[in-house]
Amino acid sequence: MMSSDPRRLLVALDHSEPGQALKIVESLAPLGVGFKVGLQLFMAGGRSLVKELAANHKIFLDLKFHDIPNTVAAAVREAAGLGIWMLNVHASGGREMMRAAAAAASEFSPAPLVMAVTVLTSLDNKDLTETGCSDTTGSQVLRLSRLAANCGLDGVVCSAHEIRDIKNALFPRFITVTPGIRPAGSGQDDQVRTALPSTVTSQGGDYLVVGRPITAAADPLQTAGCILSEMGGDL
Ligand code: C5P
Repeated sequence: MMSSDPRRLLVALDHSEPGQALKIVESLAPLGVGFKVGLQLFMAGGRSLVKELAANHKIFLDLKFHDIPNTVAAAVREAAGLGIWMLNVHASGGREMMRAAAAAASEFSPAPLVMAVTVLTSLDNKDLTETGCSDTTGSQVLRLSRLAANCGLDGVVCSAHEIRDIKNALFPRFITVTPGIRPAGSGQDDQVRTALPSTVTSQGGDYLVVGRPITAAADPLQTAGCILSEMGGDL
């Protein structure tokens, strides 16, 4: 199978030591993959680290904003000013919050892509019920995806199992980002709605987020290369 477009792979830099994250970035940079900075590394390395990474790489700033519209819009402006390529907000923050986020991002050129987190891939139907949502994860993801598209967002973060329904219900250019990816033979960690790299491609998905299977591997470069081969497919 043909190896995938490396830009489709976003490696989650979940480290508390900025030095460790930079080491992973340096070793994987030759592949041309993108990187994801989440809460852990952001709290450890802060804005200066994000800015440094964004100067040379496509950075997805995964801070999952969820607050009142004015606060989220202000946070989006601060994030966009760092030169990042993609950021996200929680779709459950509602219509006005998502609209405010999209409007704030559009003030920048190039504007960062604004994605909506639907239902975390660590949650299943039982978890949703406990939070007062009687729908299945699949229907709730679809409902939130429709709302996000309606608010002018660029796409959603979802599990690989929901890609097909989202692409069918919305327009094909509505982007999907799927975490919870586990290559054959690797453990699930705390993820529940997991999928193989090849499943994302066969379902028509766009970007894959992979963290621990690569960053905790003995040879991250080789593992990332194998995942790209498993993925196949272009953007
Ligand atoms: O190590 P692993 O591959 O499980 O990392 C997945 C990454 O994707 C983590 O950084 C996690 O915060 C993030 N993420 C997720 N589920 C979402 C959104 C983001 O797992 N719905």
